[in-house]
Amino acid sequence: TDPALIRNFSIIAHIDHGKSTLADRMLQATGVVAPRDMRAQYLDRMDIERERGITIKSQAVRMPWGAPGPDGAIRPYALNMIDTPGHVDFSYEVNRSLAACEGAVLLVDAAQGIQAQTLANLYMAIEGDLAIIPVLNKIDLPAAEPERHADEIAALIGCGPADILKVSGKTGAGVPELLDRIVEAVPAPVGDPAGPTRAMIFDSVYDTYRGVVTYVRVVDGALKPRERIEMLSTTAVHDLLEIGVISPEPSPTGGLGAGEVGYLITGVKDVRQSKVGDTVTSAAAPAAEPLAGYQEPKPMVFSGLFPVDGSDFPVLRDALDKLKLNDAALTYEPETSVALGFGFRCGYLGLLHLEIIRERLEREFNLDIISTAPSVVYRVTTEDRAVHTVTNPSEYPEGKILDVQEPVVRATILTPSEFVGTVMELCQSRRGTMQGMDYLSETRVEMHYVLPLAEIVFDFFDALKSRTRGYASLDYEMDGEQSADLVKVDILLNGEKVDAFSAIVHKDAAYSYGLKLTKRLKELIPRQQFEVPVQAAIGSRIIARETIRALRKDMLAKCYGGDISRKRKLLEKQKEGKKRMKAIGSVDVPQEAFIAALGAD
Ligand code: GTP
Repeated sequence: TDPALIRNFSIIAHIDHGKSTLADRMLQATGVVAPRDMRAQYLDRMDIERERGITIKSQAVRMPWGAPGPDGAIRPYALNMIDTPGHVDFSYEVNRSLAACEGAVLLVDAAQGIQAQTLANLYMAIEGDLAIIPVLNKIDLPAAEPERHADEIAALIGCGPADILKVSGKTGAGVPELLDRIVEAVPAPVGDPAGPTRAMIFDSVYDTYRGVVTYVRVVDGALKPRERIEMLSTTAVHDLLEIGVISPEPSPTGGLGAGEVGYLITGVKDVRQSKVGDTVTSAAAPAAEPLAGYQEPKPMVFSGLFPVDGSDFPVLRDALDKLKLNDAALTYEPETSVALGFGFRCGYLGLLHLEIIRERLEREFNLDIISTAPSVVYRVTTEDRAVHTVTNPSEYPEGKILDVQEPVVRATILTPSEFVGTVMELCQSRRGTMQGMDYLSETRVEMHYVLPLAEIVFDFFDALKSRTRGYASLDYEMDGEQSADLVKVDILLNGEKVDAFSAIVHKDAAYSYGLKLTKRLKELIPRQQFEVPVQAAIGSRIIARETIRALRKDMLAKCYGGDISRKRKLLEKQKEGKKRMKAIGSVDVPQEAFIAALGAD
């Protein structure tokens, strides 16, 4: 295809502002999907994406569209839509999708206005010099206030309110006009069709039948079927088995030229061999310089994953191996816990990432798993000046600690102005420092905070939502480290540490953590033949204590003499329960108790 007839764009939007629905309408309007084949959220392939209504993996789809060219005559354009996920955890995926485009549709729900993450992605797009096409969606909604939000957006990006398109993904209103605007406003790709081949990998996905499917944007030169290609970062050489475009299903083509977006298959089995951000070149005439890469995704949140049934450990290991094929950001290594047995310490981009992995393990691999409280990465300096990297409370050094560094984030919160006080209170209670505040309009405020990552990985988002009746939105990016007054709290059962409950917390929160856990365990652990203390401790100092009182009567005495079958049943039940008992010190604890204690909140 002539690069002058290509337009590469993505859609940036907040979750639920209607990106997938709008994409569906575009697929229909351009005839890529026939009406009888249409199903909702066509591009969200994974079941879990469809059910949770969120987009996890980027997708690229080509849509033909006849539109007036510079001379006014209709020309056949090829629009490549590169999908981007909307959640903060996946902002690195947004980054790489944007890098493959010349334009971005800024899609905003006309009833809600722009949200913090959208704003963050918008800034990313502006930084990348992309043409921005502002669009208000859901104008069919009675609650839509397109005029008010148009003013807000116009002020943000410096256009006139009249330049903002109004569409409905539901009815399809305004969609052809939007497609025309994309042709008009997004620049054609520039690149050197005759130069050494350089293509940027913006996604790679593992497919059970085909191996790794790599999505690329060709910048210079061209890629041809059956040629040998080289990955510039590793100089690994692969045979190009198939190359093509997605429209809406993958279909092989005679190659991809400069400016084109499509997929390639080389037969590699692991997404790490086809790394996002890498440059693909031709092995016969390799390019000298790689394209500007992306930052590699780095795990920020860690937690232990354990099978509820210990014999599932090998299944869990295989399952993680499989997920990893498709998810370069997931890390894991074996871990053993006294309370929970054999499992893995996993690293995630954030909490949503953690939840998605957990849900996929349960759903796709039929695993019953329990995860320990999430933790961030601390750097701890001990008395001997050694610096320890701690991602797991059990690795927290004993003895005197000189310094603890914790990761902090720069957070942007968008809220209606009436909630400013509430949000400030919340951030303050989470050790936040305010950096500034901007009024986007009379009624909407953008607040900037530096917050410890550990304080937002738990329930910050939920707390923010519930205190602002769902109106505030949050975005954050990593912003280095700070010294913090942190301690490790251990939970002891009959004097023995229960590793799964150790936590690194701020000094001021240590007492309430200890109290909460000891109370909870006291309720969940059945009485024993003897009295069992449940304690919380910092080092050797006990900060909270509860006592599980001893059993007074034989349980069987409750069953009146005659009913022998009932007694037998009870005994059998106890025996079954025994299998799942974990002995901590001399205390028998049903694993369910640990699971319940970890699962509460
Ligand atoms: P993510 O994939 O999580 O980023 O969400 P999304 O932005 O793709 O949103 P999605 O398309 O799934 O739409 C969210 C909800 O809004 C769905 O319930 C849609 O039916 C609804 N919706 C989308 N567009 C419109 C619209 O134009 N009008 C109305 N009334 N509802 C819409």
